[in-house]
Amino acid sequence: MCGIVGYTGPRQAYPVVVKGLKRLEYRGYDSAGVALVNGDLKVFKKKGKVADLEENNVGKDLNGHIGIGHTRWATHGEPSDRNAHPHQSQSGELAMIHNGIIENYAQIKQELLSKGYTFKSDTDTEVLLNFIDDIKKNNNCSVEEALRIALKRVVGAYCILLISKDDPETIIAARKGSPLVIGIGKGEHFLASDASPIIEYTKEVVYVNDYEIAIVRPDELILKNLGNEKQTPYITKLDMELAKIEKGGYEHFMLKEIHEQPETIHDCLRGRLQVETGEIKMGGIQNHIDALVNADRILMVACGTSWHAGLIAEYVFEELCRIPVEVEYASEFRYRNPVVKKGDVIIAISQSGETADTLVALEKAKEQGAFIFGVVNVVGSSIARISHAGAYTHAGPEIGVASTKAFTGQLAVLMMMALKIGYAKGTISKERYLHLMNELDAVPDKVKQILADTSNIERIANKYKDATDALFLGRGYNFPVALEGALKLKEISYIHAEGYPAAEMKHGPIALVDENLPVVFVATKDSYYEKIISNVQEIKARKGRVVAVASEGDNVITTMSEDVMFVPECDEVIAPLLSTIPLQLLSYYVGVAKGYNVDMPRNLAKSVTVE
Ligand code: F6R
Repeated sequence: MCGIVGYTGPRQAYPVVVKGLKRLEYRGYDSAGVALVNGDLKVFKKKGKVADLEENNVGKDLNGHIGIGHTRWATHGEPSDRNAHPHQSQSGELAMIHNGIIENYAQIKQELLSKGYTFKSDTDTEVLLNFIDDIKKNNNCSVEEALRIALKRVVGAYCILLISKDDPETIIAARKGSPLVIGIGKGEHFLASDASPIIEYTKEVVYVNDYEIAIVRPDELILKNLGNEKQTPYITKLDMELAKIEKGGYEHFMLKEIHEQPETIHDCLRGRLQVETGEIKMGGIQNHIDALVNADRILMVACGTSWHAGLIAEYVFEELCRIPVEVEYASEFRYRNPVVKKGDVIIAISQSGETADTLVALEKAKEQGAFIFGVVNVVGSSIARISHAGAYTHAGPEIGVASTKAFTGQLAVLMMMALKIGYAKGTISKERYLHLMNELDAVPDKVKQILADTSNIERIANKYKDATDALFLGRGYNFPVALEGALKLKEISYIHAEGYPAAEMKHGPIALVDENLPVVFVATKDSYYEKIISNVQEIKARKGRVVAVASEGDNVITTMSEDVMFVPECDEVIAPLLSTIPLQLLSYYVGVAKGYNVDMPRNLAKSVTVE
């Protein structure tokens, strides 16, 4: 959360930085700001989106060949002009942007207040900046040295970019816990929270590591550790296309990403799922097959939608591999005292690969001897790098804040993993293994079928858009799909929604049911089908409005439901890959019908790099 961009080189910095901020706006959109050096240090900032900042800057002198910019997801201090980044030091000499949280800022602020400092904002960032400036003055040292000293005192997470009035060429950056990528151009450098603002200028990038400081000039990049020792920058080639981060004719990124799923799932399976030979080729699994086959226990660690992918994987792994699975919220796991031992395998699931809670949970488990397997979308991200092994989801950049194609990518990877491990372990027959491989292989075409005509789902969305609450119910493999459906509706349409196992509804939530409550059943043909039909009857008997996700050709559920969204039939193990698609579309169309910004829902941000 929070997006940061920097530029130093021969171009005008402002347009580069602003364009980059628009690409990073999914990370937060409470306020935006830019600082430039051109003779003087100038700061422009505004509450709201990057477009509001641009509008506010019309007619101003925005010249300068060095600049830093920030798009904010508020942590300390409400969204406002004064809390927007960049912040300027009291001396007026330095400007800084920050993504992260300085946990001991209150104590440092107290010390600075007692020295006579005053603060214009409520942010932890302004405190850190004045702390650096104070160290610089007191020690008569360079900004770089002052930063190094300051960071040794800092508790928390940060990625910061710092520029100074007296140096029209240098950006000083530092990272711990929050991501930073540096793009290497010809006589110019680009800095950003992820590669999307950089991709159109260069494909050569350096991912800065925790506890590193980067001194970046147009023709020079120096990396050092906090001990002031030079580090060799490791240059990586970006494998990302510009077209993938643009809307490509769709009204919203979310809709584009939903419609990309036949292709992204296909990309995820390609080269791995080899139906003709009956092989699943996944290097990360093959190289560690003993650890995985002999695992005493698997712990899935994740947050949000990725946690739901973990819940589905729990059903799949227990069924196919007969290994006990526990699914953990990373934020809980990291703070309790979990029992983790050698022989445990942790599967970390994350789209961004930067979620702070997941990252810290993994570090903790790693210290205790667990084997970490990362299922990550963003290549080169922190979680990908700290894992012992892993498999990328290959869903491509996901810009819409609500996760869609990354979720189905996670499911596809996890299902292939379970199949490969189960077959190696001998817990599934060859026949079932080959059958499920074929079923997985057919998913991209079946998703295409669902997406071919979405008008029925749009109609249903318009019909229920004014509901104040909704229940989502499912059983077995479709229970976590119900949870995910409820989460999507909440985040995109701001309708209160709850997901439950369908049978559990009798133990409380059924009290909510009346003639106004939409109850969405995820009821595809599976071994739980007869049971869930009874649950549908129970809701109908109480006049609830039943909406169903059902298998094509199901004539029974149509007689009991006000509305039905059909998906092609498939094996129940694979079903979540299909049954989740109508629910993504339902929440999308409800959000649009209500006039909300579905790509940037209120209060949210993608890539939650604060705890
Ligand atoms: C919901 C959503 C979030 C993320 C969660 C974890 O649509 O996107 O719930 O799933 O913040 O993020 P990652 O997967 O990046 O670790």
